[in-house]
Amino acid sequence: MYNVSIIGLGWVGLAYSAFFTSRKVRVIGVDVDERKIGMLKRGVMPFYEPGISELLRSALRNGLFSPTISYKEAIRLSDILFITVGTPSLADGRIDLKYVSSAVESLGKCLAEVNEYKLIVVKSTVIPGTTLNLVGRILEKTSGKTLGKHFGLCFNPEFLKEGTALRDLEKPDRIVIGAYDKKSGEVLRKFYKEVYGDEIPPVLCTNIVNAELIKYASNAFLAMKISFINTFANLCEKLPGADVNTVAKGIGLDSRINPRFLRAGVGFGGSCFRKDLMAIINLCKDKGVDSSLLESVIKINDLQRRHVIEIIEKEFSNLKNVTVAILGLSFKPNTDDLRDAPSIDIVRGLLDRRAVVKVYDPVAMEKFKKIFGEKVKYCSSMLDCIKGADCAVIVTEWSEFKNLTPDDFLKNMRRPIVVDGRRIYDPELFSKKLKYYGIGWGGSI
Ligand code: UDX
Repeated sequence: MYNVSIIGLGWVGLAYSAFFTSRKVRVIGVDVDERKIGMLKRGVMPFYEPGISELLRSALRNGLFSPTISYKEAIRLSDILFITVGTPSLADGRIDLKYVSSAVESLGKCLAEVNEYKLIVVKSTVIPGTTLNLVGRILEKTSGKTLGKHFGLCFNPEFLKEGTALRDLEKPDRIVIGAYDKKSGEVLRKFYKEVYGDEIPPVLCTNIVNAELIKYASNAFLAMKISFINTFANLCEKLPGADVNTVAKGIGLDSRINPRFLRAGVGFGGSCFRKDLMAIINLCKDKGVDSSLLESVIKINDLQRRHVIEIIEKEFSNLKNVTVAILGLSFKPNTDDLRDAPSIDIVRGLLDRRAVVKVYDPVAMEKFKKIFGEKVKYCSSMLDCIKGADCAVIVTEWSEFKNLTPDDFLKNMRRPIVVDGRRIYDPELFSKKLKYYGIGWGGSI
């Protein structure tokens, strides 16, 4: 039976903790936040992610999950230590490595006191070069031990999506192991072999810098697909009869392209895409590499949020006192996460133009209130939100919004104008009954 430590009990750390314990791995979960550790010990999760609480509570009961603030305990009891602390963005778009540095310093000091070989695995998204040049060096310095001899080092990226973390962990497309040396790579590969058994996904073993790059390249590529399809969506809107969904379907059938991440809409949000793009753009700049492709991905995404407002402005020469209903605030459905959510820019743009803004989201209203206070009106239901509005905008594709019919909009709104920012309605049906704008829909011929 394996004993591992997960250092940094944020969303990634707890998702991995839950998954590993479900595969009978004993997990010591370390965090510097004593309050959080106290809560976790009582089985209270700091966030919602499907399936995680249940697994962790059962692991607490059967002794497979032990939350602690003690690095000493973690290093003494585990063979492999995963670092999953956050790497937030700094104001200039580079990443802040202070949590990585302090976690690794604490780890190094405790590493000095043990005699067995330990493997340190970085999972936090770090800019290429960091694992070796920062983590490796700090560990050697604070422990007085030698990398490769007394301890091993790997970079092993995560590719988890919010809302489906557990599923992503159970059936990953691949595992990427960037290893300092053969032994480090072998120890981690053996661990994953035990975790996944016969269902082990393809494992790519490479050096550390390639693995660090794979993480950034994956997110940059996915974000690029979204900005790509949004560019075509904008073109479709100018061509009667055109529909970006059909275009996406057609190109997605080409196995070289693949159908996923080609949903046009108000653009991407969330904690990773923009942050990772900004970080890698900065690295390109530092190294004298042209980053215009990646910069365009962000620019197109920003423009896509403005595009929603432009559509509304087409209907009203002046937005002052126009009531706009915003349906959906979180950056995607089934989460209350508002990080880089398109709703924030869209609402800001509307308020700047002195529109009256009503909002509704099944779970993200409290968080939205912390940003906008009393500047917008918070509604208790989707119908309450569209009531009396001059225009309704679908910003997040929550499934309950799909149940709204043209009649619901007609009966409740002052002026029935619908901007379908996520293409959840049938354009032919809606456009027959009311003023309908769908992202990437060019209208009937
Ligand atoms: C993403 C990556 O998918 C994941 O691999 C990485 O580890 C973290 O970042 P996440 O941010 O949880 O995951 O959400 P994801 O489902 O990828 O969606 C990101 C954003 O893109 C959302 O705002 C979503 O609405 C948008 N999106 C996604 C589109 O606009 N179109 C698409 O086709 C897909």
